Amino acid sequence: MNPSGIVSEYFNKEYVKESHSTRLLTLLMNYWATEKDYEIKSQLLKKLIFKYAEAERKLAEANQMKNKLIGLVAHDLRSPLASIRGLSEILIDGGVGSFTGEQRDFLSTIYSASNTMLTLVNDILDVSTIESGKLELHIKKESLKRLIKERVNIIKVLSDQKGIAIRSRLADIPDVPFDRNRIAQVIDNLLGNAIKFSPHGKSVYIALSRNGSVATVKIRDEGVGISKEDMPRLFKEFQTLGVEPTGGEKCTGLGLAIAKKIIDEHRGAIEIKSSPGKGATFIVTLPLEDSHGV
Ligand SMILES: Nc1ncnc2c1ncn2[C@@H]1O[C@H](COP(=O)(O)OP(=O)(O)OP(=O)(O)O)[C@@H](O)[C@H]1O
Ligand SMILES: [Mg+2]
Repeated sequence: MNPSGIVSEYFNKEYVKESHSTRLLTLLMNYWATEKDYEIKSQLLKKLIFKYAEAERKLAEANQMKNKLIGLVAHDLRSPLASIRGLSEILIDGGVGSFTGEQRDFLSTIYSASNTMLTLVNDILDVSTIESGKLELHIKKESLKRLIKERVNIIKVLSDQKGIAIRSRLADIPDVPFDRNRIAQVIDNLLGNAIKFSPHGKSVYIALSRNGSVATVKIRDEGVGISKEDMPRLFKEFQTLGVEPTGGEKCTGLGLAIAKKIIDEHRGAIEIKSSPGKGATFIVTLPLEDSHGV
């Protein structure tokens, strides 16, 4: 078949998804092997490049629409959910009279279910905001050590419940430019994961140091660890592995995807070191000098 035949075969017929590109490639390779006319070859390539660029543009557009829709839905669910949570909290606290034991149990269930849903909706909103490029960082130069101490104190409520000790080794380093709320979110998720996937009675280690032009935060646990193949998957949305939380905690698989995007926006890096059975270490680096203009 000549190139125009190949092109019309490709452009005019709808193949099923899997066979589409395979079929095209086979046709092209057959043609490529026999044909010497470089002009025709170059025309064909140009058409193909155009076709793929077009497909990529359509895909990006569809992805944007998806993010917008998810963002809208999540946004509109947030207020009613916050009302349910807030009102059930007032009822539990006895703000409008007292309840029987069973009524209080029901109210507690309503409170914790709406709280879980609100967290999920907020995470989904984060993903869609970040993906659509609308994440606004409020960068200020400040003490990363102070922020880490604060987050460790807050999360200690969870680790104490599981008999897990958090051991900190935090060096005095110069102030770092970062968005306080967003980096707090990253530390919360990494510490939260370390506690969630650690057996009772183990330790979680957090260290802060300076390595040349970057600040390095290392969070290490003594849990089941992560295999090399699984590592890149973890930074994609809704990815959870077979590993069970040791205290019945929830696994949505959004925390690391959000953390990676936040760290990328800070022009830092996040990497994992682990071998199965030997615990996991998450290493976050943030540049000490700001490139955002602070
Ligand atoms: N320290 C760790 N040790 C072992 N596995 C881990 C560790 N941290 C993450 N994982 C694996 O990576 C998955 C994704 O983590 P991620 O933080 O994105 O989501 P999650 O903790 O399941 O839910 P959430 O959205 O609430 O954070 C986890 O479900 C778990 O399978
Ligand atoms: Mg998590």
